[in-house]
Amino acid sequence: MPTKIDGKELAQKIRNGLKEKAAEYKDKTGRVPGLAVILVGEDPASQVYVRMKNKACEEAGFKSVVDRMPDTTTTDELLARVDQYNNDSSINGILVQLPLPKQIDEKRVLYAIRSEKDVDGFHPVNVGLLNIGEDALAPCTPAGVMVMFEEYGIELSGKNVAVLGRSNIVGKPMAALLIKANATVTVCHSRTKNIKDICRRSDIIVAAIGKANFVTADMVSDGAVIIDVGINRVEDKLVGDVDYEGVFSKASYITPVPGGVGPMTIAMLLSNTLKAFEKTF
Ligand code: GUN
Repeated sequence: MPTKIDGKELAQKIRNGLKEKAAEYKDKTGRVPGLAVILVGEDPASQVYVRMKNKACEEAGFKSVVDRMPDTTTTDELLARVDQYNNDSSINGILVQLPLPKQIDEKRVLYAIRSEKDVDGFHPVNVGLLNIGEDALAPCTPAGVMVMFEEYGIELSGKNVAVLGRSNIVGKPMAALLIKANATVTVCHSRTKNIKDICRRSDIIVAAIGKANFVTADMVSDGAVIIDVGINRVEDKLVGDVDYEGVFSKASYITPVPGGVGPMTIAMLLSNTLKAFEKTF
């Protein structure tokens, strides 16, 4: 029987630990970590995510600012708001919720966040640091996957890992973190010719391509570790990038959807905020 990796439980454990640390800092220094989340417009999914981030912050005893701006906001207006938080010493992390309305120059905005406060890990300075193996604020989802490997004692050194997806948010930083951990990484994407073979040769598969049930049992070797980053809505149900039922009996470890990688992302956002806070001492 494979081990189901319980992201919900692990995320709660991490959040409890962060809450304790925040309380200690408050006692000792009178300061707590602070996160500002900027939400532009009314995207329904973004509103749900931002509410979850705010709630997690408050539960951990962090300062939490949710800054809602209208969907008519200009790039300059948003840049001015980012700068306000760049210069606010009570704010250690700044997150601009994506997607942004079309009129906004997303790159200019993300690159305007001070890299020390870039808790999403999207700023080129953090991307660069991560890729040369230095200490960086790493993107939350792949950072959460790394914590799962560690907590469940899953060895990475010398292992063959297939990362499905090459996004800047998940696939690429996931590959960088795995390389740093001495894994041999193959990054697959829509133009990759022999994904099935690559997966079958892999000890670990991290699926982040956004295609429901893409990874099927015939692609998985016996005893493989299966990490499913996908969140796809199919007939009003959330399903991952992995055919969970089909793959389950072949895997040694597997993450469910929901309750797998998803909850880890918010825990790592708080963890990055604490990390940014600690660097200010
Ligand atoms: N929208 C969906 N996922 C993310 C994320 O990880 N960070 C930000 N800023 N926006 C998102």
